[in-house]
Amino acid sequence: MYEIDLDKIDLMAEPPEHEPERQYYFMAKCRVYVKEFKKKLGRNPSFFTQTFGCQMNSRDSEKLQGILEAIGFVETDTEEADFVLYNTCTVRENANDRVYGRLGYLNSLKKKNPHMMIALCGCMMQEEKVVAKIKKSYRFVDIIFGTHNIFKLAELMYERLEEKRMVVDIWEGTDRIVEDLPTDRKYPFKSGVNIMFGCNNFCSYCIVPYVRGKERSRSPKDILEEVKQLADDGVVEIMLLGQNVNSYGKNLETPVTFAELLTQIDQVEGLERIRFMTSHPKDLSDDLIEAMKTSKKVCNHLHLPLQSGSSRILKVMNRKYTKEQYLELVEKIRTAMPDISLTTDIIVGFPGETEEDFNETLEVVKKVRFDSAFTFIYSKRTGTPAAKMEEVPEELVKKRFDRLLAEVQKISSEVCGKDEHTVQKVLVEDKNDHEEGLLTGRMGNNTTVHFKGDSSLIGKIVDVYLDESRGFYYMGTLRP
Ligand code: 5AD
Ligand code: SF4
Repeated sequence: MYEIDLDKIDLMAEPPEHEPERQYYFMAKCRVYVKEFKKKLGRNPSFFTQTFGCQMNSRDSEKLQGILEAIGFVETDTEEADFVLYNTCTVRENANDRVYGRLGYLNSLKKKNPHMMIALCGCMMQEEKVVAKIKKSYRFVDIIFGTHNIFKLAELMYERLEEKRMVVDIWEGTDRIVEDLPTDRKYPFKSGVNIMFGCNNFCSYCIVPYVRGKERSRSPKDILEEVKQLADDGVVEIMLLGQNVNSYGKNLETPVTFAELLTQIDQVEGLERIRFMTSHPKDLSDDLIEAMKTSKKVCNHLHLPLQSGSSRILKVMNRKYTKEQYLELVEKIRTAMPDISLTTDIIVGFPGETEEDFNETLEVVKKVRFDSAFTFIYSKRTGTPAAKMEEVPEELVKKRFDRLLAEVQKISSEVCGKDEHTVQKVLVEDKNDHEEGLLTGRMGNNTTVHFKGDSSLIGKIVDVYLDESRGFYYMGTLRP
């Protein structure tokens, strides 16, 4: 990993042209402000970050936090902080509404603390109408940036501090991947690892390709170096992140498949578990199934978004597979790995969805018997092809959603219980919030287990006997 001593940077020099040196220079520049601030107020300035949305955003937030810490801010868990950052999501409208709701509150805090800086970044900021609204009605926001330039936080903060006006920097797209900036990992024992950015699929309901840009893969060398470094630091579980990991590496100078990457990562010493998100059914290769099957480290879990069980709707969604092809794929995966845990995403009420279409989704759910399913009510996203299609009346969608949820939950509780009275490997993740003396961990297939134990076990993989299934989780007993 890149190590740089901020004290050795010449602050009188011109900013370096190249990254990441340029950002280290601006971190050092911002640090001067932070030191002055500390002298004036007699305390370290604090930062608070709130992340909305997916694991990609969580990982981005760790990078942003790494930069803030390098500058000299100290993390706090309340919004009464000196630097507040919202990393936003726009995949569904309700995520946007939550951000606007919180901004009013931040304004009241800023009136009490005039030093406070408010920064907004992430997917929502890639939408023109959002930025226009913030510029007009939320003038107290200090910094706005998007998904392509998170590495620039220090530079943007410096600009804000120098020029004392709202700084807005949104890139439409990028070919760049800036490596080697500081990161602050939330957990010492597990970590996300980006393997690619963006998405080229353009599912007709989805805003992601517009806000995250076209697909870019990181080089296998950079990924492996990062994974090795993480393993050396004591990380035992990684989650490889991409919007569509199955098309990893297609656009690299020397193309590499996701299956090949997985096989290479599997060799990294010290690493014990490998997860990945998200797989598109259309690109899931036989090689990947083989790589998963042969690997001891790749977890026995696959998240395979279905979205709809109607071939007609899937076509309008531009998903490029039919109900039959999805079912065949599931069959193939289960033949290779009989006890694999399958999870999925389903959208209810896509424009034009009829009762028959919805019943087909229910039928697929009953056939596949997913371990769990994330169910979403269709949300119209401006700029996507589906936004021009006629919506299904809300009451109908709500009823369908409730029917689907009931079915999904019934099946999950039956499927989840299948490991009752067996001993399973569990990665201990945390103390249980609700009950003193209880620990919480995850099995390889991602199911949660609670059991009695000492918090010194956090970060370790232990054997746990599963005494009782409680629907979506187990109560267990630690085995010596
Ligand atoms: N409306 C509802 N759900 C959506 N998703 C993506 N776009 C939309 C939308 N416009 C869901 C998909 C995807 C998950 C991350 O979010 O199911 O797999
Ligand atoms: Fe959106 Fe489809 Fe890309 Fe997933 S694969 S991010 S649903 S466009």
